[in-house]
Amino acid sequence: MSRLAFVLLLSLVAFEVSAKLQNVTVKGIAVCNKRRVANAHVILIDKDTLDPNDELAQIHTNKEGEFELFGEEDEIGKIEPYIRIHHNCNTQPGCERVSEYQIPQEKIGELYDMTYVTLDIIVHGEKTKCN
Ligand SMILES: *[C@@H]1O[C@H](CO)[C@@H](O)[C@H](O)[C@H]1NC(C)=O
Repeated sequence: MSRLAFVLLLSLVAFEVSAKLQNVTVKGIAVCNKRRVANAHVILIDKDTLDPNDELAQIHTNKEGEFELFGEEDEIGKIEPYIRIHHNCNTQPGCERVSEYQIPQEKIGELYDMTYVTLDIIVHGEKTKCN
């Protein structure tokens, strides 16, 4: 066996031993201008995964603006999940805002209830996309 193959095998074994399946459930109600926002696209994503496809789950808010997502992933150390919401709260026509919200580490393995997510508030690092 070549040295490289051996190192690769060793890191695979290390991953199997130390990675553990972790989950998170996140729910909330999207609001804009004090109204519930239906049909906003909400995606649960894990930062720092080895897997390039880091999307864990996605959903659209219902007509009451509610969403609930469950995701789980095998990872070494703690998962760092966040949600990304695509919406058009206070945007120009033809534009959408992409806002991201971190999930606190103490909510891993539990339910994170965000209650009302006020989309009017511009969050750190958010983007606006226009056609
Ligand atoms: C989520 O993770 C917690 C903590 O590890 C565990 O107790 C619970 O059973 C898991 N829930 C599901 C649905 O897998």
